[in-house]
Amino acid sequence: MSNRVRGIAILMICSVLIPCAAVAQLKTSVAATPPMGWNSWNHFESKVTDAIVRAQADAMVSSGMRDAGYVYVNIDDTWEGERDAQGVIHTNSKFPDMKALADYVHGKGLKLGIYSSPGAKTCAGFEGTLGHEEQDARTFAAWGIDYLKYDLCGLTDQMKAAPSPEAAHQIMIDAYIKMKHALEKAGRPIVYSLCQYGIDAVWRWGASVGGNLWRTTGDISDRYASMASIGFSQAGLARFAGPGHWNDPDMLEVGNGGMNTEEYRTHMSLWAILAAPLLAGNDLTTMTPETIALLTNKEVIAINQDPAGKQGDRVSVEGPMEIWSRTLADSSKAVGLFNRHSQPMHMKLDFKQVGFAGKVRVRDVWGAKDLGTLEGPYEARIPGHGVVLLRIAQ
Ligand code: GLA
Repeated sequence: MSNRVRGIAILMICSVLIPCAAVAQLKTSVAATPPMGWNSWNHFESKVTDAIVRAQADAMVSSGMRDAGYVYVNIDDTWEGERDAQGVIHTNSKFPDMKALADYVHGKGLKLGIYSSPGAKTCAGFEGTLGHEEQDARTFAAWGIDYLKYDLCGLTDQMKAAPSPEAAHQIMIDAYIKMKHALEKAGRPIVYSLCQYGIDAVWRWGASVGGNLWRTTGDISDRYASMASIGFSQAGLARFAGPGHWNDPDMLEVGNGGMNTEEYRTHMSLWAILAAPLLAGNDLTTMTPETIALLTNKEVIAINQDPAGKQGDRVSVEGPMEIWSRTLADSSKAVGLFNRHSQPMHMKLDFKQVGFAGKVRVRDVWGAKDLGTLEGPYEARIPGHGVVLLRIAQ
């Protein structure tokens, strides 16, 4: 069966009305673990330039982030220029030579990502890919692009004009499949990141249209309320993720200055338990040692990148106190005790709540401290908006 026919066959049995968790995804050779890297949007928005991207790549290496696992350097919206008479997309003056930039980034052992929209225009009003899917995929491959964020934006006009919600849904599905096939035809392994803010329960069908990750929510901002409402809303989505196909609750805000250390620890801990992509969204050239420590904590990254690729989920909620757990490849569990209240709260974990009977070995991950072998409940005072992240093994 050709990919196109397979895609259509999948969609005939899997629509927004039917959960698609059991439906095979289009094959992929990338994103075996959640992608890690950097994206320009959260900090630079439309100000991103070639020079900024090169400086971020330099800093990703010198800060130790590359060695901690961050590899993708992703240019978001506003790189796009005009199309020429043959329809070939060109960069605007902020990016004089995309191929040279890709060579530079690759030369540092990193990978380059780019952004486009299945619509005629991107969210920021730049040139989109509509009608030029194969041409753009070829251009991206020729430049040496390794990651594409494909942002619905401009296509919503056509979806609004559709005669029914089902027809609107089909327009979106067809557009995502079309680009997936164009990327495959272009012949370069490219991580395919769907960005459509979670509409039509994308987690049910994102893998079946070839997505390696799909945004599950609207845009994050650098405030605890935004990060927490996005992160904690991911309960119940674990079964839709796995190696090669991940839920994406949006990029990181760590280091952008709008949250305190406890809040950024919550951000990293939750994203680790959620097996979420770790795409730093700050200026890597001006990081404090504290920001570097938050982003490069080896034990937190090991939880995020666990090879079993099983996303964690919520175990309990009691007012502002939530316990989340993720099962890891070695049968240990990462367990987060989260306090969403602004004031400290006393929290208690009975190990049976996360599936352990008898004695367990407990490690405080952010504290980098073994707490020994415990049997009775674990109790701790959790700072306001903070977390204690444990790794528990039998
Ligand atoms: C949308 C996306 C953002 C970013 C902007 C760029 O809002 O959700 O992540 O890519 O578009 O215009």
